[in-house]
Amino acid sequence: MTAVPPGEPEAGPREGARRRFKTVQWIGDAAGGRLRMIDQTRLPTEFVEIDCEDVESVWWAIKRLSVRGAPAIGVAAAYGAVIGARSRGTADVATVREALRDAAARLATSRPTAVNLFWALDRMRRVADAETAETGGLLLDRLLAEARAIADEDRAMCRAIGRHGAELISKGDGILTHCNAGGLATADYGTALAVIFSAHEQGKSPRVFADETRPLLQGARLTAWELAGQGIDVTLICDSMAAQVMKEGRVQAVVVGADRIAANGDAANKIGTYGVAVLARHHGIPFYVAAPSSTFDLSLADGSGIPIEERDPSEVTEGFGRRTAPEGVGVYNPAFDVTPAGLISGIITERGVVSPVSEKAIRAALGGPPADP
Ligand code: MRU
Repeated sequence: MTAVPPGEPEAGPREGARRRFKTVQWIGDAAGGRLRMIDQTRLPTEFVEIDCEDVESVWWAIKRLSVRGAPAIGVAAAYGAVIGARSRGTADVATVREALRDAAARLATSRPTAVNLFWALDRMRRVADAETAETGGLLLDRLLAEARAIADEDRAMCRAIGRHGAELISKGDGILTHCNAGGLATADYGTALAVIFSAHEQGKSPRVFADETRPLLQGARLTAWELAGQGIDVTLICDSMAAQVMKEGRVQAVVVGADRIAANGDAANKIGTYGVAVLARHHGIPFYVAAPSSTFDLSLADGSGIPIEERDPSEVTEGFGRRTAPEGVGVYNPAFDVTPAGLISGIITERGVVSPVSEKAIRAALGGPPADP
């Protein structure tokens, strides 16, 4: 991986995300191109892009959260699969297909919770298996086209989520969000933040409360950066302040993203989301989950089957390089939790808002025609 030198897009702390940025992009053609991504671990103080030209660097970029957020992980993995597919040359179709399968198997071990990762890799595998290309090179071209399609479809789904979700927002509403479900977590525009961007574009002047999101501070580092960069009124709060802010009547809706949604609507998202949903219910505030169809896992009846990633204790005891707990203390660090469907007022998808949330309503919504690009 290489850092992109000066001259490439820059967006420092003061500038925020005012300039358009590309979270995940492919540079060049299938045979010689590379995957370029923003290194999100460096935001908001530095805007650095990394280039990946082998499967291990893509795996590591996902693992260490250089690229993170369920849809963005899926897009990165799809491009990573292209990189893997060409790794043994393109002498024949069987070689490319076999290399793709091995790369997909490796990338699937990077993180367990976001289903978009597995969804995107399955899609790449299916194309490789079904494709009748005559040469390895043509198959590789087809695989890159599929990865690009996954990214393009994600962009379109996020726009549609924004349009549907903005209808739930009234002028001047206070909206609380947790973690980062913005353009940095998707191919572009976001899911939960798409609702906010869209409401803002409609002149509804949303006032956003961003939970800082311990332990890795995606809310402080990424959400605040994205929203401030777009001129949106954003106020950063510690996670522990959400109850007080709600009690003071400052929040009219909660909107969060998701990493995996089971058939009954139970939704996994960044650790802390479940607590926010409980608080929202207590204060009579609607709690919405915004997610594209690629985030649903209808093979799981409910959220009890969603694998929850456990991350390194050092994220809790010495996040960002400074020790804040005694040496040797026991740590439990689950990266996600599952909000029960009963606490969710509606799920905002690219096909419309599912409300009330039920398996029947989810299956009916997902079975419909796809969003217009
Ligand atoms: O660990 P992360 O930063 O990948 O967690 C991300 C989240 O939990 C997001 O809220 C979720 O992926 C939705 S992104 C549109």
